[in-house]
Amino acid sequence: MEGFLASEKYMRRPLVVGNWKMNGSLTSNSHLLKAMQSCPAIEGCEIVICPPSIFLTQCLAEVSNTRFAIGAQDVSEHKVGAFTGEVSAAMLAELGCKYVIVGHSERRQFHCESNGLVARKAARALDVGLIPIICVGETLTQRESGLTFHVLAEQLDAVLNVIDTDVSSAFVVSYEPVWAIGTGKTATPEMAQDVHSMLREKLNIKRPNLGVDTRILYGGSIKPENAAALFSMPDIDGGLVGGASLDGSMFMSIAKSASDFGS
Ligand code: PGA
Repeated sequence: MEGFLASEKYMRRPLVVGNWKMNGSLTSNSHLLKAMQSCPAIEGCEIVICPPSIFLTQCLAEVSNTRFAIGAQDVSEHKVGAFTGEVSAAMLAELGCKYVIVGHSERRQFHCESNGLVARKAARALDVGLIPIICVGETLTQRESGLTFHVLAEQLDAVLNVIDTDVSSAFVVSYEPVWAIGTGKTATPEMAQDVHSMLREKLNIKRPNLGVDTRILYGGSIKPENAAALFSMPDIDGGLVGGASLDGSMFMSIAKSASDFGS
C-alpha cells in the first residue's frame, strides 16, 4: 500500500462530518445535538453537522459557542434569481454555515447532477468563502469493470479545472464509494487508502503540495467498529458519516477515532 509520509498526515487536522440527509425534526435535532455535546470534549478533530436546509438556522443557534460547525447538504449553481426551491451560497454563508457538501452520490444519482454542475456548485461556494466538501465515488459496476480510478479522476478533474483556488484549506475532498453508502458494506481500509493516495497525487499534479495539505475524507457505512482502521491509513483524514451521524454517541465515537489518529 503506497501512501504519503505518515508525518504529513499530522499536518492535516482531522475532520468528521455528519450528513443527516433528509432526517430530523425540530425536537429530534435538539436532542441529537445535546446528546453529542454531552459526550466528552474532543479537541483533536473538527466536527461538522449538515442538517436539511430547513433546519440550518435551528442547528446554528443550538451549536453557537460550541466546538461544532454547521454545513449545508447542497447549494445552487446560481448566484441569485428565479430558481424556485434553490438556496444560494451567499444565503448559506450569511446564515453562518462554514461548509457545504457538493456532488454527493445521491444528488448525482437522483437529481442527475453532472461533473460540470458539481464543479460549478463548488466554485459558487468558494466565491463566498464556504468550504465545499467535494464528493467523488464509483458505482459497483464501475469498480467491477476496473474503472474506479478513471471515474474518480474524471470527477475530481472536472472540479479542479473550474475552481479558482490553489489553497488546500479552501476545500475538502470526500471519497464515497457509491456501493458502500447506506449498504453496510465498507471499503476495506486498504481499498480506501489506494484511492485516497491516487486522489492526493491528482491534487499534487494540479499544484505541488496541494495534495499534501488537502483533507481527504472517506464516506460509506462508517461505524464506530470500523472507524479506527480506516482513520489509521496515512491518506484518510476523517469521514463523511451518514447513518451513524443520527446517533449521538456513535457519531462522537467516530470523531474520537479520527482525533486519535490526528495531530
Ligand atoms: P452512510 O452514508 O454512512 O449512511 O453509508 C455516507 C454518506 O452518504 O456520506
